[in-house]
Amino acid sequence: MQENPLAAGLGLPREPPPLSLVIFGASGDLTRRKLVPALFSLHLKGSAARMRITGFARRDWTTESFRARVRAMLDAEDAPPASAVDKDAFAARVDFVRSSFDSPEGYAALKEAGPDHPNRLFYLATPPDAYQTVVERIHQSGLADQSRGYARIIVEKPLGRDLASARALNEVFAGAFPEEQIYRIDHYLGKETVQNIMLLRFGNEIFEPVWNNRYVDHVQITMAETIGVESRGRYYEGAGALRDMIQNHMLQLLSLVAMEPPVDLAPDSVRDEKVKVLKSIKPIGADAVEAETVRAQYAAGIAEGGEVPGYRREQEVAPDSGTETYAALRVSLDSWRWAGVPFLLRTGKRLSRRATEISVHFRRPPLNLFGDRARLSAQPNVLVLRMQPQEGITLSFNAKIPGHASDMRTVAMDFAYGSAFAEELPEAYERLLLDAMVGDSTLFMRKDEVDSAWRFVTGILGGWAETARPCLSFYRAGSSGPDEASRLLASAERRWRRL
Ligand SMILES: NC(=O)c1ccc[n+]([C@@H]2O[C@H](COP(=O)([O-])OP(=O)(O)OC[C@H]3O[C@@H](n4cnc5c(N)ncnc54)[C@H](OP(=O)(O)O)[C@@H]3O)[C@@H](O)[C@H]2O)c1
Repeated sequence: MQENPLAAGLGLPREPPPLSLVIFGASGDLTRRKLVPALFSLHLKGSAARMRITGFARRDWTTESFRARVRAMLDAEDAPPASAVDKDAFAARVDFVRSSFDSPEGYAALKEAGPDHPNRLFYLATPPDAYQTVVERIHQSGLADQSRGYARIIVEKPLGRDLASARALNEVFAGAFPEEQIYRIDHYLGKETVQNIMLLRFGNEIFEPVWNNRYVDHVQITMAETIGVESRGRYYEGAGALRDMIQNHMLQLLSLVAMEPPVDLAPDSVRDEKVKVLKSIKPIGADAVEAETVRAQYAAGIAEGGEVPGYRREQEVAPDSGTETYAALRVSLDSWRWAGVPFLLRTGKRLSRRATEISVHFRRPPLNLFGDRARLSAQPNVLVLRMQPQEGITLSFNAKIPGHASDMRTVAMDFAYGSAFAEELPEAYERLLLDAMVGDSTLFMRKDEVDSAWRFVTGILGGWAETARPCLSFYRAGSSGPDEASRLLASAERRWRRL
């Protein structure tokens, strides 16, 4: 069943067929923090009423003890509020298979557990190095058979660590599942404000005519975090900001903001347009990394109300680590619409404020009618699409200050999701899980999207590795990032938006 994603976003009923959901890695962090609350929320709304959930992990748990744990998760503060009866009813829908990922018995047990549910959805909430084993075992045990119902798999990032490993991983998946049954999740795409990018652009007449290089000076995309590397030091050492945030989330945001209108809203029509953007990105290789990129690492500083150590003093991080916790890029698109418009991307940990936003910065008017004073106080128009915090949209423009001759000031028109709609914004995972259950892959990444994103990012990684000078700067924890980032702006008229 293919559904119109925007219609779905408007809350039209979407009831998945009877299915069995298997969560590999059910004793892990992702299951506890995201999957169980999202599934419970679907349960409360009556979606997925004919679903069984089976947890799969190595831990010495039974169905009884897993149910007790799930029940306790539903009492946690961030779980949806509900009655004890609802919580008990949800807990009764889950089972547990205790097994190692490489043991065929575990898969045999899964097969026995779900004969009444011809449709199977597998969720890989596992360490990435387990993907291959699990997928191959699913295949060998016949669980990926498509003849009785669908067999579908959801996989989390990271999808490889460069182009070659991502391709190898895609081959592993393709050996067991047809491409249309592989759901590569990027939870950012499940956020309401991210989906609203398309609606804003193509559901209104006023934006699209100016959405091009005639009117837009540049676009900034920011994903700033205040947290450090926390307990993920070991993973992060091998990843860094470019792989962890830019390869996936930020290039997805870039493709949504820069894409051409799709012919319709079928999943492949939308993804075809997104891939075109990724393919139009001008490569950044060894000859260009110094001019087009900045990489940096946080040093000790003040954050979250206290002193915090630098990255190199974090747990499981090498004392001389060269991993970047901040990356900024100037991306150029070789396309008719965007030729000459820089897309400035930046992401970092331990920055002064948590923010995810896209800002479209327009050109100044062609003629300065109001004199030099006005020119100094008036800023070019900016349209900000805010994903975090306080989802919304802000348009800034210049207005006359009352009374004074023709002095002006920049003011803002603000739209806040929270106050404009009574409905609560659904959690991204809830939306995406339901999409996968009903077979709507619009908001999931297709193989060629992942491939194109890795091709670009692998070029930069290669460039960084090749440059003779170690191009790593440092910034104070709690600051707005390294000073070097300003050189990417390439114009005294441009500024990074304040964090
Ligand atoms: N946590 C998040 O918020 C988050 C966000 C975005 C993406 N992700 C991605 O989601 C995936 C899962 O992350 P996570 O944080 O939940 O990891 P995690 O807490 O380390 O959990 C890993 C799970 O895998 C199981 N496992 C590992 N090796 C096993 C084996 N050989 N046999 C059977 N079970 C095994 C563990 O079970 P036992 O401990 O019982 O063996 C545990 O249930 C990763 O790919 C991560 O990158 C996570």
